[in-house]
Amino acid sequence: MTAAYPPGPRLPRIAQTVLYARRRAPFVHAMARRYGDVFSLRMLPPYAERMVVFSRPEHIREIFAADPADLHAGEANRLLRTVMGEHSLLQTDEADHARARRLLMPAFAGSMLRGYRELVAAIAKTQVDGWASGSTVVALDRMNDLTLEVIIQVVFGVTDERRRAELTPRLRRILNVSPVVFIGWTRPWLRRLPPWKRFGENLSALDELLYAEIARRREHPDLDSRADVLSRLLAVGASEHPAETPLRDPELRDQLVTLLLAGHETTASALAWSLRELAAAPQVQQRARRAAAEGDDRYLEAVLKEAMRRDPVIAGVVRKLTRDLPLCGVDLPKGTVVGTSIVLAHSDARNHPAPEAFCPERFLDGTLAVNTWLPFGGGVRRCIGAGFSLMEGTAVLREILSRYTLTLPPEATARRGTIRNITNVPADSARIMVTADPIRS
Ligand code: HEM
Repeated sequence: MTAAYPPGPRLPRIAQTVLYARRRAPFVHAMARRYGDVFSLRMLPPYAERMVVFSRPEHIREIFAADPADLHAGEANRLLRTVMGEHSLLQTDEADHARARRLLMPAFAGSMLRGYRELVAAIAKTQVDGWASGSTVVALDRMNDLTLEVIIQVVFGVTDERRRAELTPRLRRILNVSPVVFIGWTRPWLRRLPPWKRFGENLSALDELLYAEIARRREHPDLDSRADVLSRLLAVGASEHPAETPLRDPELRDQLVTLLLAGHETTASALAWSLRELAAAPQVQQRARRAAAEGDDRYLEAVLKEAMRRDPVIAGVVRKLTRDLPLCGVDLPKGTVVGTSIVLAHSDARNHPAPEAFCPERFLDGTLAVNTWLPFGGGVRRCIGAGFSLMEGTAVLREILSRYTLTLPPEATARRGTIRNITNVPADSARIMVTADPIRS
């Protein structure tokens, strides 16, 4: 196929790569203004050599509905493969992906989420109870602590204090690794040098702890009655879904690390943005506090959804073409990466009237059009933790809002995002002042 890519910038590939990696939202906005709704980028590894960016609802629909054999997501996300492992849900495609997804889905079903909720609320209560009235809280850091605790206790099911104390620093070290280390890790000769050597040692130590935990859990006498994701995964092929082949230990290890990396900072960032938005919008906050007191989870969920619309945690998702393919009206050659831009879809006034306004009500009045709100991606790759993160976020907001009023501190700067690892986080780490002001229903 002779490639006729949609228009795009003539900037050198290195410049496009840096802008895409560091200033993604302003960069794609500028490109859309200049070239229209569909444009091409050229970048250096680990980004796509050729990427075509889409954001119109009809294009999003076509991409998410395409045959997963033609559009690979695992292949387009290779950077984290050495950490997540070859079985990772995020790293596999086609039959391997379909199997992993089938085995993981039951642990994230609605009925299971209700079982996890109580523990999430208890963790949130413990973490936020100690906030001093009148103090400034660095919400992003506090939410990162909280969501890590949720992964350890609710996803991994490790509640024993000694084992949590062993696991926590190992997980933190993996989470705080610079993307440069991940990129370099794909070159085996670098692994003899620090910081790669240290990274490798930490990864081995973490694996040892995870395999020990899996072995212990397999033998647990009350496995069937345990409400944590690892125990639910271990039940697949036994008491649950007996026709399935159970997950083997290396598969379980890879999925646990994947759930950690995919589920921790993303949820923390969504919560940090939500709290910052509420601190800046007293009237919305008043309604949200009332909702917290009355147990109106729908409104709290709408707050989270609106924060994710206005400040998408992940800027976009990608798929790599496995063959020449006509897609969204363009003939694209094999190897092209197609990007669905969440940032552009969410800020388009044709999709969301008054897109700059923070207005949770738009998620309650039934006017939201399909394929215009996509913080969790879509199609067969849609985030498996979407329901989990909304349940978690709602429970955390409820605990915070029923105790404190939130305000921006006097030194607060204008709302701005920055990319940390792969997530868009508030550049000021969402510093907010909390004042004890309990409300009762
Ligand atoms: C606000 C929080 C979250 C956001 C914004 C988010 C966003 C995303 C996005 C954009 C994708 C890619 C979807 C695609 O390619 O179409 C994804 C995939 C995934 N997410 Fe999430 N996520 C969040 C929370 C979670 C949580 C809590 C977990 C698990 C505990 C999780 C686990 C995963 C996994 C395993 C995948 C891979 C799915 C697949 O490839 O089949 N995520 N997420």
